[in-house]
Amino acid sequence: MTLAPVLDQIDQDLDTATERLFDLLRIPSISTDPAYKEDCDKAADWLVKELSDLGFEASKRPTPGHPMVVAHGEGPDDAPHVLFYGHYDVQPVDPLELWDNPPFEPALEDTPKGKVLRGRGTSDDKGQLMTFVEACRAWLKVHGKLPVKVSFFFEGEEESGSPSLVPFMQENAAELKTDIALICDTGLFGEETPAIVTRLRGLLGEEITIHGPSKDLHSGMYGGISINPTRVLAKIIADLHDETGRIQVPHFYDDVAELPDDIKAQWDALGFDASQFLGEVGLSVPAGEQDRTPLEMIWSRPTCEVNGIEAGYTGDGFKTVLPAQATAKISFRLVSGQDPFAIRENFRTFVESRLPEDCTVTFKPHGASPAGEMVTSNPAFKAAQKALSDEWPRPAAFVGCGGSIPIAGHFKTILDMDAMLIGFGKDDDQLHSPNEKYDLECFHKGIRSWARVLAELA
Ligand code: BES
Ligand code: MN
Ligand code: MN
Repeated sequence: MTLAPVLDQIDQDLDTATERLFDLLRIPSISTDPAYKEDCDKAADWLVKELSDLGFEASKRPTPGHPMVVAHGEGPDDAPHVLFYGHYDVQPVDPLELWDNPPFEPALEDTPKGKVLRGRGTSDDKGQLMTFVEACRAWLKVHGKLPVKVSFFFEGEEESGSPSLVPFMQENAAELKTDIALICDTGLFGEETPAIVTRLRGLLGEEITIHGPSKDLHSGMYGGISINPTRVLAKIIADLHDETGRIQVPHFYDDVAELPDDIKAQWDALGFDASQFLGEVGLSVPAGEQDRTPLEMIWSRPTCEVNGIEAGYTGDGFKTVLPAQATAKISFRLVSGQDPFAIRENFRTFVESRLPEDCTVTFKPHGASPAGEMVTSNPAFKAAQKALSDEWPRPAAFVGCGGSIPIAGHFKTILDMDAMLIGFGKDDDQLHSPNEKYDLECFHKGIRSWARVLAELA
């Protein structure tokens, strides 16, 4: 089976592929917000229908949360069986007023840097997951079959921490286990270097609320005699890092390994331009651990960040008040070796040990997923590297990813299979933000890339 006519088919079909993607993008499948539960279900149905129409044995699988979609195809026995993963859920759209177009009315837009697909989910992750579906479609259209056996696994809870994922994978382990998992939910390195992600950080979320007086107080009547939970919270937050950027939670770095020299050398050779990376978002100076390189800061070192704070009066004007409580949403990006549950316990101890008289704390746990480190000795990595280097202007690079995809680590721990992460997003795609976009060229070359990867894997 030859590749060239498959690539031609992809080129000819780009407009209709875009229309199909727009259909999926019109479904507001926001997984965190219960108001969109039915839409998540609709997105799952849409994928089941799409895959069934292509000849896959596809089904929607219920979970306590949003449904999974699983599908299986036919393929030769002498080639690897791959499981493709993507997520059909998207992030909330607020602040809505910052969108130039409604987030769920996708459009093809001309920009000074080329054509872009605009709308929530274009890059994260509907546009990316469709690159693989469209590559399969082209193979099937041209040759009537795929060069390797392909199964699909789509999730609708990735953006809310994948709460149903682990039990689902455990219960369906035999069905989901294949020779390798392919994940399309990451980006290129820079503008045109295709990237295979070999390490991905984990994520731990924890919400803390400091409680003080039994009710909000007049800050004149009680100010000076009452403890103020906002100040207590601020002090705890300030204590999280020392002046060199090192995290102060006890035992936090105990299981963090140093980056191996060969990987460090490989990363140094990538020529990452930190000033440009920061410049694009109005910054200039790397603000992480002072003794680390910029790429280490975002790829191989763990972090602690405050994602939101709420306390007292935040409306217009001014109100003199001592709030009864103060809340912060805190996240840790974790690296290989760190146990999210041990870190949660140590963090809680860190907070409790800083509470003054009359203050208490309540904790609300959010997602906990370990980091993933990929084993690149699997021959699929060489095959993919070749396929990607053939499609893009530059050879493919092995890179890290600062973001998290909970399933990435679970493939190894639950199903004992390797995962290969290849994606075509760009740094300026505005993931999770207003005006999310995906370059039309990334969509197009992404489809072609997967068509080539399938051929190489065979
Ligand atoms: N696709 C992203 C992960 C990602 C982010 C890849 C940046 C490449 C660059 C994924 O959908 C995501 O947003 N993950 C969340 C985790 C989740 C539990 C909300 C993240 O990293 O914050
Ligand atoms: Mn994603
Ligand atoms: Mn995301």
